[in-house]
Amino acid sequence: MRYRPGPMLPGKTKFVPINVSPLTPVFGAEIEGVDLTRAVDRATFAEIRAAFEEYSVLIFRGQPLDDAQQIAFSECFGPLEVTVKANPAGGTTFARQSNLDIRTGEIIPPNDRRMIYQRANMLWHSDSSFKPVPSLCSLLSAREVPPEGGDTEFASMRAAYDALPVETKRRIEGLAAEHSLAYSRSQVDPTVMTEEQKAEVPPVRQPLVRVNPVNGRKALFIGAHASHIVGWPLDEGRTLLQDLLAHATQPPFCYGHRWREGDLVVWDNRAVLHRATPYDTVKYRRLMQRTTVAGDAQTGSPGRLRTAGEGSSCGFW
Ligand code: OGA
Ligand code: MN
Repeated sequence: MRYRPGPMLPGKTKFVPINVSPLTPVFGAEIEGVDLTRAVDRATFAEIRAAFEEYSVLIFRGQPLDDAQQIAFSECFGPLEVTVKANPAGGTTFARQSNLDIRTGEIIPPNDRRMIYQRANMLWHSDSSFKPVPSLCSLLSAREVPPEGGDTEFASMRAAYDALPVETKRRIEGLAAEHSLAYSRSQVDPTVMTEEQKAEVPPVRQPLVRVNPVNGRKALFIGAHASHIVGWPLDEGRTLLQDLLAHATQPPFCYGHRWREGDLVVWDNRAVLHRATPYDTVKYRRLMQRTTVAGDAQTGSPGRLRTAGEGSSCGFW
């Protein structure tokens, strides 16, 4: 599908529309016709942003970004989050998903705490849903990829919501879930987070159904950080969340991404869940760099959205 070009901006290079090829019948698109290692002009970014709102997951192939280029493109979407301390890159705007030691570049042994911590990525989740203002989107750049395994899977929470029976939609309308990083990590190993790490991220409440402010589409907001339903008995809430997750991650709502070095994938944390899949962490090297764009205060209701460039620190404009 081709988007019609917007008006030319004075003093900018000639605008060439991007090419958007849907990946599945329900979500995801591959974007071609843009070089993300260079400045992206305003009109081109507007096309990318529109595709993001529409498709939830955008795949860009052949984009060998360095850290500065990744930050510059990421900031086009809005201000970046600072990563929690528990990640090896904690305190910076990068979250590192890797079996390589951040200082030495050597492979980390599989029983090391850092590798155990990362196993929680294999649970379906939405990045930062445990923060009071959950993130808008994540951008993951493939720097080193294993020759087999290590795919990342995505599930459309809009397609999943749409397919719910009417009674379920009615039952969950207006409910909130409590999200916590300590809860999701405890599913892998209750001792993997220190008290200091837990104190950094106390539990928060999020609506169970979110509405996209641009197109009004509803999405389930669930995943591994969602512990229980606010105001319900713990067991009942957990059962509902498990049932919703089982429904929402059925194959027709999913896309699995087979990584190539130089891929950049952008996903909408308001509208999809994702998870890591296993690879041979002893034999192969994997280095993925993630930037995460902060959300704005509205988590549930339609309203005003920050538009491209407005008040943003995008390095390109
Ligand atoms: C992430 C994440 C999955 C992966 O970067 O947020 O969950 O496959 N990554 O590395
Ligand atoms: Mn993640």
